[in-house]
Amino acid sequence: MPFEQEARKNFPKWPIYNDEDIEALTNVINSGNWWCGAPGAHQGNNVWAFQEEFSKLQGAKYCVAVCNGTVAIEAALMGLDIGLGDEVIVPDYTFVASASAVIATNAIPIFCDIDPETLVLDVNKIEKLISKRTKAIVPVHLGGNPTDMEPLMEIATKLDLCVVEDCAHAHGSVYKDKKVGNWGNAGAFSFQASKVLTSGEGGAILCNTEELADKIYSYIDCGRKKNQHFYKHFSYGTNYRMTEYQAAVLRTQIKKFPTQHELRNENARYLMNKLNEIDGIKTMKPTLGTTSLGWYVFPIVFEPDKFGGMTKLEFKRKLNRNGIPTDDNYPPLHSLDCFKVPNLKKGIDYSDANWGGEKSSDINFPIVSDIFSRSIEFPQQMLLASKEKLDNVVDFVKSLKQMS
Ligand SMILES: Cc1ncc(COP(=O)(O)O)c(C=O)c1O
Repeated sequence: MPFEQEARKNFPKWPIYNDEDIEALTNVINSGNWWCGAPGAHQGNNVWAFQEEFSKLQGAKYCVAVCNGTVAIEAALMGLDIGLGDEVIVPDYTFVASASAVIATNAIPIFCDIDPETLVLDVNKIEKLISKRTKAIVPVHLGGNPTDMEPLMEIATKLDLCVVEDCAHAHGSVYKDKKVGNWGNAGAFSFQASKVLTSGEGGAILCNTEELADKIYSYIDCGRKKNQHFYKHFSYGTNYRMTEYQAAVLRTQIKKFPTQHELRNENARYLMNKLNEIDGIKTMKPTLGTTSLGWYVFPIVFEPDKFGGMTKLEFKRKLNRNGIPTDDNYPPLHSLDCFKVPNLKKGIDYSDANWGGEKSSDINFPIVSDIFSRSIEFPQQMLLASKEKLDNVVDFVKSLKQMS
């Protein structure tokens, strides 16, 4: 979409980097240590150092760095022994990875509708989806907005379910005085190119028990154990290790993160207040008890009737043609082709899932289907712009009402 790409040029570019990032990468090349090695036999130091720095930033005890955010979710689930035949509740409004990581473990994702205001998993709808096979929940803190983790954890504790928080959008989000990623058994993060902390690709799992951290580490490093011989493989594992290049860039980017995070939060508040004054516009509502959001995206929901019956595509095009960028929002999981025909993996019976065939009808997921049909998202770079630029965005959205 050329207008969309052009529009991005009016706002701060992403990623933001400087000589420090370039030097960090050059240092890795020159060091000759291009991979991290093993816990007892370090080669490069960047992955090990980043794990410490990221767990400190997020207030967690343990961090296992991996090559992307999709496998971070998978590794956390594997560390919690989720597998064949287990059901895992996932919000219907998220990137496919939140569910495909469940599929990777041979478990079955069960889609849960969302709250129409916060746009994250509606915790009140979880219990209706529980079966005797339910073993875990993967709440997604969409756009950095935390899922209502307190009541969610009450349900999880009552029913003895594991919780893996998908924090791909939520670096720095704080809910009820605790950073996300620390509420459940584990938190999975992404450092993919568009994320608020990035190395192009990358991921990490946070947790607060050594036992789980060790199990996850073993899974992502070929079934090895800390401080054991390199060719000893104790359990089934694979290679999802992060490279030294990724970790070196993350270590310079993490220094830039707090200032950017603060600015995104300040600007998001500013934009929310102004946009919510416009009749027919509602921005994503921060979950009660949230003090800081990752703000990976800034979703807005509009009422077509108040904009002369404008469709979402028309709304988006008008913004883009007037130099305002938008991100495409995620089609609900139940509507994706891969979840319409339930034969994703050979030998796995998906017939009890709440998707596939007629079950994938929008009627069964009314809130998310409605929200998807009339919402758009601003990219996070917009929240790094000046107030004047944000005012222009607000003025243009106002003018759309007059045009309609
Ligand atoms: C909600 C969510 N979960 C997981 C992921 C997966 O992260 P990655 O792209 O690093 O594999 C993403 C990536 O966009 C995401 O948006």
